[in-house]
Amino acid sequence: MSARIDAGTREASPPWLEERCDIAHTVPDDSSPIPPSLTIVVPTRNEAENVGPLVERLDRCLPGEVLEIIFVDDSDDDTVAAIEALERSPYRVIRVIHRPRGERHGGLGGAVVVGLRAARADWVCVMDADLQHPPEVIPSLLERARATHADLVIASRYCEDGSLGRMGELRAAASRTTTILAKMVFPGRLRGVTDPMSGFFLVRRRAVDPDCLRPCGFKILLEILIRTEGLQVAEVPYQFGERHAGESKASLREAIRYLMLLWQLRLSDQTRRFVRFAVVGASGLGVNTLALLAFAEIQGLHYLVAAALATQVSTLWLYLLTESFVFSGRESTRGPLARMGLYFGMNNAALLFRGPLMYVLTSIFGIFYVASNLISLLALTVLRFAVADMWIWDAARRARRTTGPALYNIHDIVTVRSTVPLPELEQFRVGALDGPPTIDVRTQARRPQRVSAERHFQYDERLGMFGFWIDVCLGDAIDVVASPLLARSPHVLYTNVVEPILRWTFVQRGYALIHGACIAYDGHAYLVTARTDTGKTTTVLRILDRQRWENNTAAFISDDLTLVTPGGTVLTYPKPLTISKHTVAALNRPALTRRERLGLPIQSRIHSRGGRRFAFLLTRTRLPIATINALAQWLVPPPKYPVQRLIPQVKLAREARLEGLFVIERGTDDEFRLDPDEMLDILMSNCEDAYGFPPYPAIRGHLLQANGKDLSVVERQIVQRALEGVPGRLIRSSSMDWAQRIPALIAAPSQRRGMVPGGLAIEGPVPEPGTGG
Ligand code: GDD
Ligand code: MN
Repeated sequence: MSARIDAGTREASPPWLEERCDIAHTVPDDSSPIPPSLTIVVPTRNEAENVGPLVERLDRCLPGEVLEIIFVDDSDDDTVAAIEALERSPYRVIRVIHRPRGERHGGLGGAVVVGLRAARADWVCVMDADLQHPPEVIPSLLERARATHADLVIASRYCEDGSLGRMGELRAAASRTTTILAKMVFPGRLRGVTDPMSGFFLVRRRAVDPDCLRPCGFKILLEILIRTEGLQVAEVPYQFGERHAGESKASLREAIRYLMLLWQLRLSDQTRRFVRFAVVGASGLGVNTLALLAFAEIQGLHYLVAAALATQVSTLWLYLLTESFVFSGRESTRGPLARMGLYFGMNNAALLFRGPLMYVLTSIFGIFYVASNLISLLALTVLRFAVADMWIWDAARRARRTTGPALYNIHDIVTVRSTVPLPELEQFRVGALDGPPTIDVRTQARRPQRVSAERHFQYDERLGMFGFWIDVCLGDAIDVVASPLLARSPHVLYTNVVEPILRWTFVQRGYALIHGACIAYDGHAYLVTARTDTGKTTTVLRILDRQRWENNTAAFISDDLTLVTPGGTVLTYPKPLTISKHTVAALNRPALTRRERLGLPIQSRIHSRGGRRFAFLLTRTRLPIATINALAQWLVPPPKYPVQRLIPQVKLAREARLEGLFVIERGTDDEFRLDPDEMLDILMSNCEDAYGFPPYPAIRGHLLQANGKDLSVVERQIVQRALEGVPGRLIRSSSMDWAQRIPALIAAPSQRRGMVPGGLAIEGPVPEPGTGG
């Protein structure tokens, strides 16, 4: 885990922080030569006897990390003195922030927030000083964070073999009750979190925004969970320990603070939204009434029919406003099309209730039908809000990370900064870049006015801010400006704009981003290339899922694009995988939610081979095809999931040596060796095949020329050198059984680099692959 100093942190700190530091810090923090890899934040209140043993155990169980331990102290005893007396070490910096009486805002929670602001490592672990949180659990928190790419890992007393330890009956009961209460108040947000009351957790510093927190007492984790949208959470079990020395600060006051916190958290969210919903609803009443009058008086329809039609008009109006005003900014688990469908469904279902109600009011009680229409609408507002809030716009637990542009560092070769987070590059995401980005991406409403530079080009379907346009300046840094539509459709922004630029930028730097999946056995990499939609992804997933060799399992490098160096090294390029319902059916235990599975049939229909072929056919027409594509992918986003979600225990490899290449093809069963030229031709044509959708044909020419060189020639040379001595084999299959045949071939010695090409692979039971050779 790399450590970086974020200059912004210090500015964001409250002014008194610096003042207090000088009275109490032990080691001058800024002069520390090594940036910390992990910050430990410890709130303390009268823990003089505990800080020593705590630091000692931290040192012992985290030998590999450069630690920064920040005590945020609200003590009245000599805790500060005890901390200052601790032994120094170059691999661990200790800082104390003492808050004098009168400045102890938020109690324990406030102290944690102060610690989070002051932290300098990318990862922050929050824990108690009294050793009830065993430091020995921290390595597994780090491990889980790395393995799952979570933003927050909670040490939990309630998952798997975690436990309350020897906590007294009364406290244990209180702990369970408060946990259940919180989960009842926030059923959606706390789904899958077993211990929201834990005071022991590891968090990615940039994932939480301290400015959003209003800490109040002990339950800071709960607040972080509720207030941080889109946090990815994981848990690790642990056993709650016994207090080393001193006494607990839990009290009745803390219990009351907890209830206040719950109340605040629930209310602030909900009231604001309900008020907006009601305002929007009121505007809907106007629209509905006008439409009702129009249908009844002008068209002369029966009032019940008119009311039904008026509902469709006002529903559309309401949907648009609800989308952009009431739930704006909420990342929902559903796409806009699904939400619209459900919203219409709900309002029409409501009509079924309203119909009889109106009938009773008007035909039986003789109330004017306009009034009975209004009454029935009001009666259903509350119910509709509940359904909209809890179900239709159900907040996702997905990534809507911190504000500010997203930063990506791809193997220290190319860096990207983008105002629109690019899900495909998520695994390359970093907190900071060392210099200016290689590629800078942003969206804005208008096309920039640029002096026409030599290396400047545009692609514009002339639909203004509602259509697809890009404006690109190539130079030492590449500047990409795209239309606002592309902020809605990040997959298109990445796939059709950023990726082609990346491809040729890599070539300029001596790397080739080639169209092939890749798996590695123990450092030996095997490429699987094919024309798009043959079945590379499914093949790789199946191989990884099966894991034929117990102690020498295949590791994932990439499923679509792989970076290769002329020296024959491949580097991982882990984009999320585009899957279909068939892919999922082929896997053992994919970690998809029920809703994700339900969405798959329609998503895979649209993003299938057929869907793509249809889109390609449209490119021959004069339609604004890139715009249509962006709109379609906004309405129904492609089903893309990180490999870890599909195969939870998958092994990942960062790089490996290229040892073999397989070309897979559909057709009559056949299998043969390829000579080096054939291999190169197929690979290069597969690379071209992967690109081609607009705007690529229009911008290709601009991307390909650099300093008078034709980059496609350079790319071919890189690949040719990388393939030197690498055996290649074509496998044509009618049953698409490549996932069985490839591992068998790999296990056969003749498929390895340096072996005489033309040798026959032996099938059948074989020793471990990748050894020897
Ligand atoms: N800075 C600061 N200010 N620290 C405080 C304060 C405060 O007002 N109150 C308590 N602390 C520190 C204590 O010094 C200790 O390091 C830690 O916070 C936890 O306090 P304890 O007094 O040991 O509380 P506990 O053991 O009852 O509560 C623990 O378990 C709860 C779950 O059962 C804590 O981990 C809680 O966060 C957790 O919710
Ligand atoms: Mn305690």
